[in-house]
Formats: sequence, C-alpha cells, structure tokens
Amino acid sequence: MISYFTTGGRVTMQPGFSPSEIDTSRPHPARLYSYYLGGKDNYMVDREAAMEVLRAAPDVRAMAQENRAFLQRMVRFLVGKAGIRQLIDIGTGIPAAGNVHEVAQQIAPDVRVAYVDNDPIVHVHACALLTGDGYTSIVLGDLREPEAIIAHPRVRELIDFSQPVAVLLVAILHFIKDDENPVRIIAAFHDAMPPGSYLALSHGTADFHAEAAVSQATAVYDRATAPLVLRGHEQIGGFFGGFDLVEPGLVQVPLWRPELKPPGSRELAKIGIYGGVGRKAAAPWRASPSVGCGRVTQHGEAPPRAHLAGWRS
Ligand SMILES: C[S@@+](CC[C@H](N)C(=O)[O-])C[C@H]1O[C@@H](n2cnc3c(N)ncnc32)[C@H](O)[C@@H]1O
Repeated sequence: MISYFTTGGRVTMQPGFSPSEIDTSRPHPARLYSYYLGGKDNYMVDREAAMEVLRAAPDVRAMAQENRAFLQRMVRFLVGKAGIRQLIDIGTGIPAAGNVHEVAQQIAPDVRVAYVDNDPIVHVHACALLTGDGYTSIVLGDLREPEAIIAHPRVRELIDFSQPVAVLLVAILHFIKDDENPVRIIAAFHDAMPPGSYLALSHGTADFHAEAAVSQATAVYDRATAPLVLRGHEQIGGFFGGFDLVEPGLVQVPLWRPELKPPGSRELAKIGIYGGVGRKAAAPWRASPSVGCGRVTQHGEAPPRAHLAGWRS
C-alpha cells in the first residue's frame, strides 16, 4: 500500500508501500550500481542493462568501486577531521559494504545520518539494514525537491540545521538534467546550512573515455528511470558555488585524499568520476541569475580555478 503527500504540486511516496510496488519493467540506477558492485538486489531488466553498459564501458565496475572508496574516505574526513556530527546522504543506494553511518560511527558513535533516496527498493533495504538505532533514518524523497527534504519531519528529527551539517550527493547529480536545475537544488541546501557545513559530491564525466563507449553506455540509461547526464570538470566545479573546496579540490575520485598508494596513470585513465568536498563560507553568496547548469558565482565571480585544480602537496 502506498501513501502519498504532496509537495509543490508533486506527489511523493511515503513509507507504507510494499515491495510489490517495485517497478521491474525498467532498469533503475540504484539496482544497476548495486550490480556493478557485485550486489544481488537486482532484476533481469537491470542485469541485462548493466551487462550492456559493461560491454560498452568495462571500466564502469572499477568506477563504482572507486566511487564507493571515495565515499568512505570523504566520510572519514568529514567526521574525523572536520568534526561533522550530522550528515544527509541523498542518493543512498542499496546498502553495500561500508555504509555512511557505519563508517561515520566507527569514528564517533553519536553521528546522525539521514538517508534519502527516491527508489522504493532502496527504501525497503535501508529500512531493514540502515535504521533502527535512533541515529539513522531513511526518507523516500527526491533530490529535485530539496525544500521537501529539508522540511521532512524525519530529517528534522535527526538534523539540527543550526549546527554544521554535511550534505552528501555522491553519484547522484548525474541523474539530474540541466533543465531540472541542479544549481538551484544545491543552492537550496546551501541556504539551509550554517557556515562551517559541507557539501560532498561525486559526478560522472565523459572526460576520460571514447565518445562511442560513452554514448552506448548513456543510451542504456535513457531506457532507465533516470538518464545519465555526464558533465565536464568546469561544470561540476560550478556546483560548489558558495563553498570553498578543501584540498585536493575537484579531482578524479582515486586522487581525493588517498589513504593507500593512488593508482598509476593507466588505472586512473579508467575512472570517469570526479569528486570533491566544499566548506560553506561565512561570507554572503548568491547564485548567478543564469542558473540552469551554468555558472555559479561567489560574490559575482567564478569559483577560483586553483580550488578546482588537482592536489599536489
Ligand atoms: C549510483 S547510486 C549511488 C549510491 C551511493 N551514493 C554511492 O555513491 O555509493 C545513485 C542513487 O541515487 C538515487 N537517485 C537517483 N536520482 C535520484 C533523485 N532524483 N532523488 C533521490 N535519489 C535519487 C538512486 O536511486 C540511487 O540509489
């Protein structure tokens, strides 16, 4: 049984639905990603689509693994180094090894994590595996409705927006089309966060792969519940308007604060995902009027290039 509430004229599913409501007619990004990571929570339609993606772009499996490793290092940084005690993880995915709250709570057991995903299958698994300790919750919500996420009672139960908070958008923004205005979405979170808060994101790019492989792989996502919108370094860097990128800036995910020896150039050439973390600056900030996926400005300027460059220390 599905219950609904409306936000801004849209209908949003809420808990109470049953797994039989899960759509098995089209591939879902969460289930494809789970397949790349070796998970079992997928259907025939997902497996066929995932194999088609992997035939066109075999590197996708390594990308998913490196993205997952980035997620975990980034959480260790936010909790261990930046002192963050509350996180909102939007685009949670089907639970896999090293979920956000597990990584965070190894460092600080009182860290609170609000998970948000728009896929019912994620909700079903997350309810079973990720919540129940009073420090975590899962909300069935859509990134394209940031105000509804920020106002959601279960998010508010865990997250105190008067204190620094980290919003994680890991491998999700590439499912948001330009005309859905990702810059506006991020600005809504930016405005709700106090200074000292963080935005962490990773995002797929076509910067490292042949055009034919990219177009075959993205064609598969055109049949899925969300298209794959790959973006370049500059455009992804623009999502950090109002945030100061911490070192090493926006880089291919294996290069973001590696804890082991980072991959060599041949391995690195396979990883078409950028990742970065930004800290909300204290000074006032406004989005450029030409939003879309265009530039975001800080005091009317583009984010400094130096902030986007690779880490060389
Ligand atoms: C590739 S998975 C990433 C999972 C996890 N963040 C990670 O990086 O390991 C992307 C997730 O985003 C979710 N997603 C895609 N579009 C979304 C939207 N508009 N609102 C909320 N979740 C969305 C999918 O259901 C999926 O679970």
